[in-house]
Amino acid sequence: MYTQSFNVPDDAGDAKPAGLKAVPAPLGEAEMALQAHFDAVVDADGKIEPRDWMPEGYRKTLVRQISQHAHSEIVGMLPEGNWISRAPSLKRKAILIAKVQDEGGHGLYLYSAAETLGTSRDQMLDGLHSGKAKYSYFNYPTLNWADVGVIGWLVDGAAIMNQIPLCRCSYGPYARAMIRVCKEESFHQRQGYEALLVMMTGTPEQKAMVQDAVNRWWWKCLAMFGPPDADSPNSAQGMRWGIKRISNDDLRQKFVDATVPQAEVLGVTLPDPDLQWNETRGHYDYGQIDWDEFWAVVNGNGPCNKERLATRVKAWNDGQWVRDAAMAHAAKQQQRSMKEAA
Ligand SMILES: [Fe+2]
Ligand SMILES: [Fe+2]
Repeated sequence: MYTQSFNVPDDAGDAKPAGLKAVPAPLGEAEMALQAHFDAVVDADGKIEPRDWMPEGYRKTLVRQISQHAHSEIVGMLPEGNWISRAPSLKRKAILIAKVQDEGGHGLYLYSAAETLGTSRDQMLDGLHSGKAKYSYFNYPTLNWADVGVIGWLVDGAAIMNQIPLCRCSYGPYARAMIRVCKEESFHQRQGYEALLVMMTGTPEQKAMVQDAVNRWWWKCLAMFGPPDADSPNSAQGMRWGIKRISNDDLRQKFVDATVPQAEVLGVTLPDPDLQWNETRGHYDYGQIDWDEFWAVVNGNGPCNKERLATRVKAWNDGQWVRDAAMAHAAKQQQRSMKEAA
């Protein structure tokens, strides 16, 4: 899962490196023509491809956004992966394995898309493993089985809202990767909601578990859409470049409006006393989001940041022998084909 609004500088808060100019040098004539062509393609809702000229800021923004997105998918596998061995039935286990595997696949498509912009996968993974790169808002514990359902329903549901506009993003490889990702996210959302529907026909304890999980995840999902538009200074540039299509607040509102009726069908209460239909606006009003908590988690101080990163680094180190074996095999194959060609 991921939020398109989650595109914050990895070095936010660091001192600016010496010698870096705040204002880029003026463009020469040839570059101005390239820029004009780029603008025309974006304005016509066309696609920018890896071979095309693009402004450096566009390239950097995309590398940062796509790699943060990829990291979020990979780290997002961990809280649910924990529950595979404890799923309550074979059916739920099979569904959860498929979902967690999908999230791994999303990470891989996205690393591939980011590589087309000239950044190596090793560089991106170094950023994640060293703790330098940011990733999305998934650093909370999954306390009981209902959390798995609620993550599917609400967290993947929020991810779909965020990601559907990315299918129309101006950068071709990112937009194309998102088409398949969104189809799979839709399955994730439905499996979560269906698991909860079943629990809500169960015992009072099961119903209470669902309500408890909803209480713990609701506000985190609203925050996942990113800071309010007024506090998102990069949004306008992202929209101009055709990377971002809908503002954080508009996406958040769409999510609230779509989710309230689903909560009613499910029979749970959303934990917000200010949540009510506003006839004039034609939308639901909702309460204040705790942005201090959001930034604490994004900046590495959430309840599970350290544990998740340590698990991820361990998995990477434990897998070194597989990568070594694959490289040795590829080298052997190459030698063999060179010998045959000789
Ligand atoms: Fe995903
Ligand atoms: Fe997902």
